[in-house]
Amino acid sequence: MISREIRERAAKLRADLEYHNHRYYVLDDPVISDEEYDNLFRELQALEREHPELDDPNSPTRRVGGEPAAGFSPYEHAERMYSLDNAMDLDAWYAFTERVAKGLGTDGAEYWADPKMDGLALEVIYERGRFVRAATRGDGLVGEDVTGNMRTVMNLPLTLRGGSVPRLLEVRGEVIISNRDFAALNERQREAGEKVFANPRNAAAGSIRQLDPRVAASRPLRFMGYGLGRVEWDQPLFAWTTQREAMEGLKGLGFAVAPEARLCGSADAVAAYFRELGERRESLPFEIDGVVAKVNSLEMQRALGFTARAPRWALALKFPAMQARTRLDAIRIQVGRTGVLTPVAELAPVPLAGVIVSNATLHNKGYIEEHDLRVGDTVLVQRAGDVIPQVLSVDLDARPADAEPYVFPDTCPVCGSQAREDGEAVRCANETCPAKTVQRIIHFVSKAGLDMEGVGRRWVERLARDGVLETSADLFTLEKTALLRYEGMGDKSAENFLAAIAKAREEAPLWRLIAGLGIRHVGEQTARTLAAHYADLEALGEATREELQALEDVGPIVAESIHFFFESEDALTLIERFREVGFWPTGGPSALAEATEDAPLAGKVFIFTGSLPDMSRTEAEALVEARGGTSAKAISKKVDYVVAGEKAGSKVAKAQKLGLEIIDFERFMELLHESE
Ligand code: IVH
Repeated sequence: MISREIRERAAKLRADLEYHNHRYYVLDDPVISDEEYDNLFRELQALEREHPELDDPNSPTRRVGGEPAAGFSPYEHAERMYSLDNAMDLDAWYAFTERVAKGLGTDGAEYWADPKMDGLALEVIYERGRFVRAATRGDGLVGEDVTGNMRTVMNLPLTLRGGSVPRLLEVRGEVIISNRDFAALNERQREAGEKVFANPRNAAAGSIRQLDPRVAASRPLRFMGYGLGRVEWDQPLFAWTTQREAMEGLKGLGFAVAPEARLCGSADAVAAYFRELGERRESLPFEIDGVVAKVNSLEMQRALGFTARAPRWALALKFPAMQARTRLDAIRIQVGRTGVLTPVAELAPVPLAGVIVSNATLHNKGYIEEHDLRVGDTVLVQRAGDVIPQVLSVDLDARPADAEPYVFPDTCPVCGSQAREDGEAVRCANETCPAKTVQRIIHFVSKAGLDMEGVGRRWVERLARDGVLETSADLFTLEKTALLRYEGMGDKSAENFLAAIAKAREEAPLWRLIAGLGIRHVGEQTARTLAAHYADLEALGEATREELQALEDVGPIVAESIHFFFESEDALTLIERFREVGFWPTGGPSALAEATEDAPLAGKVFIFTGSLPDMSRTEAEALVEARGGTSAKAISKKVDYVVAGEKAGSKVAKAQKLGLEIIDFERFMELLHESE
């Protein structure tokens, strides 16, 4: 016989440990230290060892996992676990809500919407508040009894909390592993030389199907409730009437339920929730593949019932798939503007997240080797947001018998020169490799450079190949007739093409020109810093390494790279060309002072008339603006200086009438210098 005192102490320890499990694993808000928890745990273990009569399968000490099983017994669900119908787009969602309205005879249904978690579906059963069974969904009718493994899932209550506990409760939910836990688990597996899991869902499913509960116990599994099976109450007044009440009730009983859930008053509100969650999808702590919307009223759910497969009151709105399997048809080598040979996968075209994907990056030589990618392989490709699709893995089982290991080239596929390994990269050593020229111009017009919308990369490639464009500066002397010689280049496209260049000439700030040069390690941020400190390309080119390094976010490597660039003969020629063609944006400290009161020409209005020696009107205007002044298009009393060049026209006469100050180009340059 054991004393009442000991029995009570054991009960108290069990209740306390379950309380702290709940604080830690469900609420994420522990109130005692790990050490204090361990002390309680050990005390209970000791009591149980001394007094086997205290035995209870739901003791918190049992969460470490019991004896391995020979297999799982089948478990027949008392109520069928249905699957869900899927909506691949919002049209299908609206069609569903119309069927609901028809079925109910009202379109006033509210919806409870929550994330569709990507794990393993499961049912957990409680009698009089005590955990008695857990079973996988199986085919919906019969699943596998995984009670022993589920007992090890730390956020699953083994004893329900609170005063109003149903006599019988069946909770449906998903067993998942969070992204963070998944990364740590794989790290551990890798270190131990064990199998690495492809994704959290596989890891969760594999862990639940472990025959040894101690292995399951070592896996960071979580149960998230989202629905009900049978529920029976002693006091019917407590019965839940809506999905929302049920979810809140489950929380009160100690369960973790699907987070981020929302009550939606209309079909549109569900659509908005779907879009919102879709945008946040990748920042959630666990993987989701859509949203599940359920009619909120349980009465309405009963009225709508089920089809052969799925409830008529719930629908899964799926996000576009981010991964797909396809065949690797070829590996193409691209030569970038710095000469790096980048392997690109040519894929059998496959739809992925709303676009057809037929190319994916393979990063570098090492990546191909590491994955032993071979032409003919079946690969898993992933697209995430805007990024270039990537090849994630190879399905070795699907490899054709004759697939040969890939041999990375050691010569440049464009010019045939020797290619050399340089860290992770393999580079073409030929400075004048035509591929580099083309890629440099493509970079120049791209978003990362001058952002010339309307200047397509295909055209740049053709023009460069034909020698019409030898450098980026040649863009500014392109003539319409040269473009119209090309088949496929109509009058309209040629105009758009030239308009995009003209726009850049007029508006591009110095930092875009700097970024467009494609100097290694100089991206937008660094280019902005440089443009804020140097008046123009020439001034930047004359900067010493020490000067450059004194700037914010310019370290020795970046400084060296800038210096290296401006030392080259090609760079000097290019810079001269920019000046010749009149594309000469300016910046410098005065550009920073722009519009501030202490800028040297602040508030001064200039107008230019006639042609200026040495400088285009746009350049002159930019110089004024860089010093805080503005330029006007028409003569008025607001103008402070009229700069008259050669063949100045009627504006001068008008200015004289208004009594404005008229200056020549030399005086203008003096003004600029005085203002420095
Ligand atoms: S409700 C009667 N809600 O999706 C159907 N299911 O494709 C009740 N799932 O087998 C299901 N997250 O494993 C529901 N928030 C969620 C869910 C969810 C994931 C899974 C569940 C189900 C599958 C159907």
